Amino acid sequence: MNDLRLRHTFGLNASCRQVNFIDRLIDLYGVASDRPYWILGEGSNCVFIDNFDGDVWINRLHGVDVCERDKHFAVAAASGENWHSLVQFCLSKGIHGFENLALIPGTVGAAPIQNIGAYGVEVAEFIDTVEVFDTRTQQRFALANTECQFGYRDSIFKHAEHRHWFIEKVHFQIPKARQVVTHYGELKALLSPTPQQLFDAVVDIRQSKLPDPNIQGNAGSFFKNPVIQRPHLALLQAQYPDIPYFEVDTQRVKVPAAWLIDQAGFKGRSVGGVKCHEKQPLVLFNTGAAQGADVLLLARSIQHQIKEQFDIALENEVRLIGHGGLINL
Ligand code: FAD
Ligand code: EPU
Repeated sequence: MNDLRLRHTFGLNASCRQVNFIDRLIDLYGVASDRPYWILGEGSNCVFIDNFDGDVWINRLHGVDVCERDKHFAVAAASGENWHSLVQFCLSKGIHGFENLALIPGTVGAAPIQNIGAYGVEVAEFIDTVEVFDTRTQQRFALANTECQFGYRDSIFKHAEHRHWFIEKVHFQIPKARQVVTHYGELKALLSPTPQQLFDAVVDIRQSKLPDPNIQGNAGSFFKNPVIQRPHLALLQAQYPDIPYFEVDTQRVKVPAAWLIDQAGFKGRSVGGVKCHEKQPLVLFNTGAAQGADVLLLARSIQHQIKEQFDIALENEVRLIGHGGLINL
């Protein structure tokens, strides 16, 4: 009962002291913060690099409530619900907005943590409040959207000082008058799609681009897309005139890490059992017998080369967990 291989989508061989389950709210009182522990949803953003010397608590809280109001739908979902099932459920009830976020693996409770995003939409747009259980004080409280400090793949919940907060429930507010969002990449080709057509298109694109973790163990984008200052971009453009970028604000742009890794020649390169994906180089995957050390070695050599070649520090998006808990690259 302490094997973690099937508990995280990268599928490395790792174990912990004990695997426990959170099936009811009362189980949360058992998450003792005086011994090391790690909360897990579906493990799609966590890579267990080593055996974890602590308990793993797996969230299985379920339940969804929907309330129709004048101008929006209020949807409250327990944190252990599967994210994609919630997207499908809402679509089936005529509640439209989550389509761009279809097929993102994982639980509802993990969605606010790194503010999941895809195809021009981030979940923060829909979050009204987040209900939290503090495992240290055993108190409950709710955070309003503005208190969650949402950013690109970031929120207050991801910060080290709040790691003892367990997300119990997420309250979404989905406006009835919202228009479909189709400005990102391949979605531009869709002309006034219905929400169902948008959903189908996102699912198709994702299935054609991203490796299925059930076949090739992975944790999605390994690194975040770096944000750089405009003068830095100008320097890079002198050498790489075709460098792609996206506007962030008047001073900063976001550069696709996939492009940087591709330019640096890592596509298809392996270290032991870990490989940089040929079609989507931002994804590192397990070819079958990967070791934690292989993951660190390949990720660190990518990081090192990107720093040397572009003077850009890549930051890992995935959570790396070692013997004693969270580790840095
Ligand atoms: P886990 O991996 O189980 O946990 C992630 C973190 O949240 C950990 O630190 C964990 O301790 C913490 N945590 C989990 N649940 C709770 C809780 N209830 N309370 C407190 N802390 C908690 N992400 C995107 O944003 N966009 C994408 O397009 C995208 N595509 C992906 C594609 C693939 C193939 C894969 C494998 C991953 C992808 N991801 C993407 C990353 C991942 O799907 C998301 O980060 C997802 O929200 C993780 O959910 P999870 O339940 O698996 O979280
Ligand atoms: N590119 C290359 N070479 C390649 C592949 C891509 O140069 O071989 C460049 C292209 O310029 C392309 C760009 O990379 O336009 C961006 O690629 P893509 O649109 O696939 O998106 P991404 O930046 O790789 C991000 C998110 C994904 C999300 C998609 C769609 C991050 C870190 N990743 O990927 O999220 O699904 O956009 O919105 O922001 C995740 O977080 O795990 C994740 C998969």
